[in-house]
Amino acid sequence: MLFPQLAALALSLSLIPLSHAAETVLGVYMFHRHGDRTPKSTPPANLTALGYSQVYTSGQYYRNRYIAANAALKINGINTDIVKQSQIAVSAPSDVVLQNSAQAFLQGLYPPVGSALGTQTLRDGTNVTAPLNGYQLIPVALVTSGSGSEDNGWLQDASNCANAETSSNNYFSSAEYQATLAATNDFYKSIAPAVNRTFTDSRISYKNAYIIYDLLHVAEIHNATIQSADLLTPETLFQLQTRADQHEWALAYNASDNMRAIGGMTLAAEVVDFLNKTITSQGKNKINVQFGAYASFLSFFGLAGLPAVNPDFYGVTDYASAMTFELFTNGPAAPFPAASDLQVRFLFHNGTTNATNEPVAYPLFGQLNLAIPWNDFVTGMSKFSVGTTERWCTACGNTTGICAPFPQAPSSGSAGSAQSKQGSGMSNAVAGVIGAFVTLAVILGIQALILLLGGLRVVNKRMLAHPVMQRESVELGKM
Ligand SMILES: *[C@@H]1O[C@H](CO)[C@@H](O)[C@H](O)[C@H]1NC(C)=O
Ligand SMILES: *[C@@H]1O[C@H](CO)[C@@H](O)[C@H](O)[C@H]1NC(C)=O
Ligand SMILES: *[C@@H]1O[C@H](CO)[C@@H](O)[C@H](O)[C@H]1NC(C)=O
Ligand SMILES: *[C@@H]1O[C@H](CO)[C@@H](O)[C@H](O)[C@H]1NC(C)=O
Ligand SMILES: *[C@@H]1O[C@H](CO)[C@@H](O)[C@H](O)[C@H]1NC(C)=O
Ligand SMILES: *[C@@H]1O[C@H](CO)[C@@H](O)[C@H](O)[C@H]1NC(C)=O
Ligand SMILES: *[C@@H]1O[C@H](CO)[C@@H](O)[C@H](O)[C@H]1NC(C)=O
Ligand SMILES: *[C@@H]1O[C@H](CO)[C@@H](O)[C@H](O)[C@H]1NC(C)=O
Ligand SMILES: *[C@@H]1O[C@H](CO)[C@@H](O)[C@H](O)[C@H]1NC(C)=O
Repeated sequence: MLFPQLAALALSLSLIPLSHAAETVLGVYMFHRHGDRTPKSTPPANLTALGYSQVYTSGQYYRNRYIAANAALKINGINTDIVKQSQIAVSAPSDVVLQNSAQAFLQGLYPPVGSALGTQTLRDGTNVTAPLNGYQLIPVALVTSGSGSEDNGWLQDASNCANAETSSNNYFSSAEYQATLAATNDFYKSIAPAVNRTFTDSRISYKNAYIIYDLLHVAEIHNATIQSADLLTPETLFQLQTRADQHEWALAYNASDNMRAIGGMTLAAEVVDFLNKTITSQGKNKINVQFGAYASFLSFFGLAGLPAVNPDFYGVTDYASAMTFELFTNGPAAPFPAASDLQVRFLFHNGTTNATNEPVAYPLFGQLNLAIPWNDFVTGMSKFSVGTTERWCTACGNTTGICAPFPQAPSSGSAGSAQSKQGSGMSNAVAGVIGAFVTLAVILGIQALILLLGGLRVVNKRMLAHPVMQRESVELGKM
């Protein structure tokens, strides 16, 4: 009896590396935090030289993981040296720190190709080499849903979502907040001399836990002569960080009032939307990199049940952190596999990723598997994703501007009611950009539609207020 069991065990163990060898990555979605920056409390914040190198290093790591000729998990068919624009999509909000981080990351992902590859011969025989040794240009699309996120102390300023603002604001009247505010009062007063050049006494409290931590965190990295530095013992700094974590988590996620997690909800829709494009295009859309603020990480962590796997997920992610969704198959990559042969793996790395600090896979949605069948992944994400203008407007309770065509049901509009709405909204699969557009067209009628298209330039700006809307405006533009 023993022998066959051992043999079976040995066989199953030997299958592990085998199945890895047979694995082919077909598409990747990354959500990335910016690198080291100047403090939020002295706007405009900007990326530092340290931050630039962090994000650049991360770009180099992901090049070696997904793109280089000898990459361990080379995305099937992706260009190795000269970028093919149709294979890659990069976006960041209109925010200096995040836009520049995206550029820096791309310099590592697709570095200059040198004069041999970077030279073109003109008709008259002249050779022209791209500047900076064959530097490659890759556009970074604007999503304004996180606009100015690094200059804003209050995270929902960047979300534009009415119910998310209300929901986050509710934290300030919760028992937890009041208790923490009182319990930490003396602590914050004790560190006042270290921050009183930037914050008035009345602002030095748990109410501003994140921006106080942020100021001192930046100073600890950059400033050799911090005022009253003796106050900032390791214990004190740890306490400042932990309180900032508690504060930001509470604003980004609450299981019984989840509207404040709108950043994670739209991100979930964007991930599914892109990987679905990888599938429907038979692998033409290969990698999407979005830069965004830590709040979207926290909201997504909460929605996806990650703190139950590791309580570290309650903490604000370090600079240059990245979460990655890999779409892969264990079978042959050609012809392009059926959806039922595809799986998704979620990975995260806290802080700059490099060859000795690699991303780690975590199970999503409270289940145990690191690899999730594509269809289950879609089901899991759809429980909280918000991916069309109509659903965004309904969930956010916005009724004006771009949301005017979607009046609220009289009873709705209160924060926290999104869960039930989402349940019914998802099942009828209106999902997708075209779906929302068709709905719009039906509501407005053809005449109004012509007006809408005629006024496209005016509409566009407002549509830019939300990434999903931005995609729609692109679709409209094509028509
Ligand atoms: C970068 O930030 C620092 C500190 O906030 C500020 O003094 C400096 O003017 C900023 N630099 C740029 C180029 O914006
Ligand atoms: C341009 O490059 C081609 C290919 O490397 C080479 O054969 C040719 O001589 C070059 N022309 C000039 C004007 O340098
Ligand atoms: C949604 O409503 C809030 C609060 O009224 C407002 O600040 C925000 O600009 C609105 N967003 C959009 C996209 O209209
Ligand atoms: C979470 O939401 C519930 C329900 O609205 C509320 O009672 C509770 O105070 C909230 N907790 C925090 C920390 O915001
Ligand atoms: C900050 O605190 C220190 C120590 O208590 C004090 O000497 C200084 O005057 C304060 N500065 C301001 C601007 O309040
Ligand atoms: C470093 O801290 C000192 C004392 O608080 C302050 O005067 C100085 O402006 C700070 N320097 C920078 C680069 O922030
Ligand atoms: C994927 O895209 C196709 C074509 O646009 C659409 O019919 C389908 O519903 C999408 N699936 C998901 C899970 O979004
Ligand atoms: C990332 O690291 C910070 C410490 O710098 C910690 O507070 C946080 O919990 C960590 N987050 C995760 C998801 O590991
Ligand atoms: C990765 O980063 C860590 C921490 O900064 C550093 O100690 C290590 O040497 C780096 N590894 C590589 C291969 O650069």
